[in-house]
Amino acid sequence: MADKRKHSILTLQKMKAEGEKVAWLTAYDYPTAAFAEEAGMDMLLVGDSLGMCVYGYEGTVPVTMDQCIVHCEAVRRAAPNTFVVGDMPFMSYQVSDEEAVVNAGRFLKEAGVDAIKLEGGQRIVSRIRAILDAGIVVCGHIGLTPQSSGQLGGHKAQGRTVASAQALIEDALAIEEAGAQLLLLEAVPPEVAGFITRRLSIPLLSIGAGYECDGQLLIVSDLIGQFQAFTPKFVKKYCNVAEVITDAMKAYIADVKAGTFPAEEHCYHMLKDEAPGFPEMTKKYE
Ligand code: KIV
Repeated sequence: MADKRKHSILTLQKMKAEGEKVAWLTAYDYPTAAFAEEAGMDMLLVGDSLGMCVYGYEGTVPVTMDQCIVHCEAVRRAAPNTFVVGDMPFMSYQVSDEEAVVNAGRFLKEAGVDAIKLEGGQRIVSRIRAILDAGIVVCGHIGLTPQSSGQLGGHKAQGRTVASAQALIEDALAIEEAGAQLLLLEAVPPEVAGFITRRLSIPLLSIGAGYECDGQLLIVSDLIGQFQAFTPKFVKKYCNVAEVITDAMKAYIADVKAGTFPAEEHCYHMLKDEAPGFPEMTKKYE
């Protein structure tokens, strides 16, 4: 999309004010990010979900800063006109405000992203303030927070009781008050998400938090039917690349076994003037 204009926090804020929904997707590599920019995606997230979707880990906890930076660099190169958010991996911001700022800064200095995302509510308010003080755009993430899913008793929807919904509202207000410019809400009932969306002035994005939020995020590997381990309830699959790719690979194997690949059109022949000399030259090797 040659004429695409990259979003800023101001245009994302304007979309909220005007009721235009934000379309947000994860991307981890160059080709996928290029397709997303071509498709007109508003935002990309280089999520630490890359641990599961790219590296085959069971969860996000093993993901390192260096892995995140490498994937952010690839996405940035492919999608220069899309608002890219880098996801801070486990233990890159939990220890201290200072470490959080240094690591958040790496996402901007080394990979050129537009914002960083980190998980947690009231308990990470001082991290959010410290990162904002360094001039970095911050996206909060509350609800189901995969990095601390052990404390939540697993990958479970949040805010399904009045007390838990209230805790989410308190977290959302604390994050907005700290100055974060975006907030992601994961796996929360739409009635709770809708209330928070209306209550906040910053854009509230949903992944599994229903239709009332200011925009939606999906994991690209779910959307295209690539991730096979499990499919959360909130996922909509738009195609099945696993089937397309596996079928193509099976067809290739069959062609190789049958000798139908490569065919004449896939071959490089000797130069026309050189070809007659070849049989003569090989005689001494027979
Ligand atoms: O890493 C990621 O893709 C995320 C989503 C699960 C929200 O943080």
